[in-house]
Amino acid sequence: MSAADRSPCPGSGTAAFHRRAGELFCEDVPVRELAARYGTPLYVYSGACVDQRVAAVRAAFGPDALLRYAVKANGNLTLLRRLFARGAGFDLVSGGELRRLQAAGLPAAQAVFAGVGKEPWEIEAAVAAGIQFFNVESAHELPLLAAAAAAAPRPVRVALRLNPDVDAGTHAYISTGKQENKFGVALSAAGAVVAAILREPRLSLCGYHVHLGSQLRAVAPYVEAFHKVAAFVDADPARGAGITHYDLGGGFGIAYGDGAPLDVEALAGALLPLLAARGWRPVLEPGRYLVGDAGILVTTVLGEKATGSTDFLLVDAAMNDLLRPALYQARHPIVPVAERPGPSRTVDVVGPVCETGDFLARQRSLPPCRRGDLLAVLGAGAYGASMASNYNTRRRPAEVLVDGGTAVLVRARETFEQLFASEIDLHEA
Ligand SMILES: Cc1ncc(COP(=O)(O)O)c(C=O)c1O
Repeated sequence: MSAADRSPCPGSGTAAFHRRAGELFCEDVPVRELAARYGTPLYVYSGACVDQRVAAVRAAFGPDALLRYAVKANGNLTLLRRLFARGAGFDLVSGGELRRLQAAGLPAAQAVFAGVGKEPWEIEAAVAAGIQFFNVESAHELPLLAAAAAAAPRPVRVALRLNPDVDAGTHAYISTGKQENKFGVALSAAGAVVAAILREPRLSLCGYHVHLGSQLRAVAPYVEAFHKVAAFVDADPARGAGITHYDLGGGFGIAYGDGAPLDVEALAGALLPLLAARGWRPVLEPGRYLVGDAGILVTTVLGEKATGSTDFLLVDAAMNDLLRPALYQARHPIVPVAERPGPSRTVDVVGPVCETGDFLARQRSLPPCRRGDLLAVLGAGAYGASMASNYNTRRRPAEVLVDGGTAVLVRARETFEQLFASEIDLHEA
């Protein structure tokens, strides 16, 4: 089939998901075949899309930038290894994510460790693993970090996470750089924390970190944050001595079928000259931008019903598989895997979980579909599988990675035995 026989899949944000004769493909694999092979709900990822996004960020920011993929977006071991092979390191927020990295055989020396409430064991494990930078978020971390650093072969490098009180224009639950958010150290308190770091002989302050939130579409908040950090640094020469890195966080937004994604080139164009003027090397922590559009969640229509006021389409994927619509009122485009002719109608797409908040879409115009048809929820590669749970004793979905015409299972669907394995059943004899 020639490229001319392909048509785009609007809302997917990538040519990796497209149609051939009306059918949805991931690269060269029909999504229908994957659903038949692995069942639904099913996450399908395009390796080519991930590669393209890494290349786009690298092209915009240049070879000098440290790309540190936010593991929380999707920590699948195969994806982590792929990202590493394409030149990414990692941004971790828990000891569990560090263990994940180690399980994938990837070096902590190319990972930064943020985390708003680090437990002592997490700090010790990360120091022992030789983490690249600690993004310190609270003064109480310092004595713990200094104690762990005492046993380390070299001083531990610290980037102080600042809360610049910048409105990122994103959903309240994914805003992290405003005064009312729990993240980072307020600029008014940060001078004392810098002084405390400088007093610790085993800690070396080498950067500042901000992360304003997730799903940002505009460059301006990043620039505003930089200027606030720069003003903080310029207020005292001790704050700028030895600084080599500026971690601008992640948050690069994708389109989700509505408007434009963040213009990564424009972001680099605005920030790189400011950083170069100070000799600060950029650190980037995108998660969603690298993997969000690379994934879809495939689901089967179980049936329909109408209540008089609302038409429901019941599907086999639910909030436990993809939490974002329920948690953030997030809007994911939904498309049929095989198109049927006929007029569209407005429905609520809901899952089997016993919660009114269990929906994948509300009041959405969808082309005709029937029981047994497959639907694809687009833009589901980030914060999809990684936020999945077992609520209602549901098994988390399988995950498949496609490369050209090849699809490999990168996570099997959970078994019920796995679900109960850690429970201790104190049944009465
Ligand atoms: C510290 C930090 N860095 C990076 C990210 C990645 O965000 P995103 O996936 O929106 O790029 C997050 C997520 O909220 C984060 O907390």
